[in-house]
Amino acid sequence: MALLPIRTYPDPVLAQKCRPIDQVDQDIRRLAEEMAETMYDAPGVGLAAPQVGRPIRLIVVDTAEGEQRGNPMMLVNPEILEAEGELVFNEGCLSVPDYTADVHRAARVKVQARDLDGKPVHIEAEGLLSVCLQHEIDHLDGRLFIDRISQLKRSMYRKRRLKQLRREGS
Ligand code: NI
Repeated sequence: MALLPIRTYPDPVLAQKCRPIDQVDQDIRRLAEEMAETMYDAPGVGLAAPQVGRPIRLIVVDTAEGEQRGNPMMLVNPEILEAEGELVFNEGCLSVPDYTADVHRAARVKVQARDLDGKPVHIEAEGLLSVCLQHEIDHLDGRLFIDRISQLKRSMYRKRRLKQLRREGS
């Protein structure tokens, strides 16, 4: 197992619409394990495959705290079936360094996916888990949380980020 390098804004892979996974094979299982390991190491509460450079519909999520942590959801082709209510949550992202912002999301979602054995999974989520699932599924459609804030805030972050990257010489 290896930690995977995390792609950061404005890497174009983060803006790509990811393709569905036809079959869960050894490569996908290994990728999911490595993504989970990378998420725990960061640490973060979720990670989507495009964040490690793979534009496919796979996410890992763990919103538990403390000793409960370590039992990640690994979801293939996750889809939001129903969304209701509204909440505002201060979000960050491993691919959007040094920035958080308030984002409006649905308060509750029903998500359908497959697990790594190809079995259907249904999740009803609220609170942090609901936010996290919406955030990760957004990644699969090439959308970052900064695409859900005002244009002014987004362009201020973009300028700051590009300046930072120039300073780092990348
Ligand atoms: Ni993210």
